[in-house]
Amino acid sequence: MARRKKIYEGKAKILYEGPEPGTIVQYFKDDATAFNAEKKAVIEGKGVLNNRLSEFFMTGLAQIGVPNHFIKRLNMREQLVRSVEIVPLEIIVRNYAAGTMSKRLGIEEGTQLPRPIVEYCYKDDALGDPLVTEEHIAAFGWASQQDMDDILSLALRVNDFLSGVMMAVGIRLVDFKIEVGRVFDGDFHRLIVADEISPDSCRLWDIDTGQKLDKDVFRRDLGDLKDAYTEVARRLGVMPKNAPPVTKPTLIN
Ligand code: TYD
Repeated sequence: MARRKKIYEGKAKILYEGPEPGTIVQYFKDDATAFNAEKKAVIEGKGVLNNRLSEFFMTGLAQIGVPNHFIKRLNMREQLVRSVEIVPLEIIVRNYAAGTMSKRLGIEEGTQLPRPIVEYCYKDDALGDPLVTEEHIAAFGWASQQDMDDILSLALRVNDFLSGVMMAVGIRLVDFKIEVGRVFDGDFHRLIVADEISPDSCRLWDIDTGQKLDKDVFRRDLGDLKDAYTEVARRLGVMPKNAPPVTKPTLIN
């Protein structure tokens, strides 16, 4: 294949220039990181699973009219996506208390929240993605009021979709993070869901047993991360039922 220009390398993905203007190739790595990359590992096959899972969620979202960057999957580890101007926010939606919310507010993990709560973190690894308010976002010009209205609406629609899809396969969507980006049409722009939606950026608990099926398995050393993600993929029918190990490319495409 012709050499491609690398645009950006993050913790879990690499972005390459796409074949057409306005497109990007998103490559899913096997690297797992937690605690702002203080903890690192290579989990063989994770990239393949997340590529498939993100495709599955983004395709479903598009089918119910939630705009997102996904165009098509190219191969085991790569997908073609629309290039966007990323809004520098991690948009978190929580249905049950967990993680930093539990710590910050002293709410026991797993407590159902009175309603979905949306939080914003400023995307800056050096600062550890600090929690910010809409005041910060407006004052520093990270997003306009119209953008914020659209972001809230996108986040809640993604939450309803993902919660339903997960509930149908016996999984509780505790919380998740999305990123959004701007696509331009002349002087106007609109916001679409970008980045990825995968167990790397969600908390997913088995409804009956409470078993964790997300990146907390890695963060908290609870077992094999690949097994957990494979279980999510299997339940959603994303991987064939008796799929061979995800590292054998010829058999799962
Ligand atoms: P949160 O509990 O705030 O942080 P942590 O994952 O460090 O305990 O995270 C809420 C959800 O959002 C969780 O599913 C992980 C996800 N998330 C990311 O994927 N990336 C991020 O940078 C942040 C802040 C959260």
